Amino acid sequence: MNAPKPTVHLMQGLPASGKTTIARRLVATGGGRLRRVSLDDLRHMLDSTGRETPWEPERETSTVRAQAQMVRLLAGDGYDVVVDNTHLYPKQVLPVVHALRGLPVEWRVHHRISVPLEVCLARDADRQKPVGRDVILRLHERWLEALADGWSLTTGWLRETHLNQTAGVAR
Ligand SMILES: Nc1ncnc2c1ncn2[C@@H]1O[C@H](COP(=O)(O)OP(=O)(O)O)[C@@H](O)[C@H]1O
Ligand SMILES: [Mg+2]
Repeated sequence: MNAPKPTVHLMQGLPASGKTTIARRLVATGGGRLRRVSLDDLRHMLDSTGRETPWEPERETSTVRAQAQMVRLLAGDGYDVVVDNTHLYPKQVLPVVHALRGLPVEWRVHHRISVPLEVCLARDADRQKPVGRDVILRLHERWLEALADGWSLTTGWLRETHLNQTAGVAR
């Protein structure tokens, strides 16, 4: 009998909307089968000087690619994976979908998008390492633009995007 397809869980929400809290809960209840990846943590691992973690576009592109490959490896090893990033517009989601080309997976989305912007700003300002108001407002703006374009992060969109790129690819 075939092993069950791994499930790739995607969080979606503004910074401080509670994504990591939920993602860790998924890990806690996943019976050792579910593992979490996070760009924030990976960036910290790769670039932290101990005092700060610089953000710079070129390195970010490379960090995003490294994370996408990590998701592929983990899913290929049969683990479920929760990708704990904001995922507020397609460009933030596509690298992982592309990296999973040809690998059968199930998709699940965990939205934190009902948490109001003001609540996210307040919770962020309260935490040890705030992302900052400007970043959150910019992400919020890009998210609204994606919604206005008719996009939303659904399992249907993920399945279709994943399958379309899988077509004709032999691995
Ligand atoms: N449901 C909730 N109600 C109140 N505070 C919450 C809730 N979920 C998370 N928090 C708090 O909000 C802050 C951000 O949560 P976190 O899960 O790190 O968000 P994110 O990963 O989206 O940035 C943390 O201080 C956390 O303890
Ligand atoms: Mg987080």
